[in-house]
Amino acid sequence: MSEHGVTATQAPILTIDGPGGSGKGTISRLVADRLGWNLLDSGALYRLTGLAALRHGVDLTDEAALEPLAAHLDVVFEPMPEGVRVILEGEDVTRAIRTEQAGDRASQVAALPAVRRALLQRQRNFQQPPGLVADGRDMGTVVFPQAELKIFLTASAEERAMRRYRQLREAGETASLSSLLKEIQVRDTRDMQRSVAPLLPADDAIELDTTHLTIPEVVERLTATLAQRGLGPEA
Ligand code: DC
Repeated sequence: MSEHGVTATQAPILTIDGPGGSGKGTISRLVADRLGWNLLDSGALYRLTGLAALRHGVDLTDEAALEPLAAHLDVVFEPMPEGVRVILEGEDVTRAIRTEQAGDRASQVAALPAVRRALLQRQRNFQQPPGLVADGRDMGTVVFPQAELKIFLTASAEERAMRRYRQLREAGETASLSSLLKEIQVRDTRDMQRSVAPLLPADDAIELDTTHLTIPEVVERLTATLAQRGLGPEA
């Protein structure tokens, strides 16, 4: 029991699934901050597995070698005022896991059932009081099917490529809109067509198309929906 009388397994969960560039990452962080809940960025775990593979010389198709690597990832998430710092085997990889190549490696290792199995319990351990916002592809379908509220965010591939383009430009990196669009389409297809835990809305998920919505508008809608269900500070 925590000081609020809520056990870890009772801590409420909001899952936010959807394709890359749907705004999930930013929206999940803002909603978690607003509620004072914990945040699981499950994509980071797949990105870290891909990076660990690269550093240990493990092939991205070698499922038998990737499984123990994923199961024993030596990673620390350090909350900082400017965001979460990610430490892999003692090294700050916060930026290294955010590149397009890291995203592509993540999508490849994420297609392997043994890797997904190896990361399952680590993800479930994030369910801690007072609550959890879980950001990913299969949060509502596989990892937390019991979640109190499930959201599936979408946006057109063109809009998502444009968002990513702006993000990269703001970070001072060069980018090509047409190659970003192509990468997004390749990754969407791989994530949706894999045989294990494909990117899909849960049957009981609320789908929200963010193509024409601003981030604050989406955050408002989610916190209002949570409040209607008796969850969160406005409940
Ligand atoms: O959300 P992201 O871009 O950081 O995710 C990187 C890749 O990891 C993405 O292409 C698919 C995969 N992923 C997944 O398969 N399941 C999750 N729960 C989260 C991410």
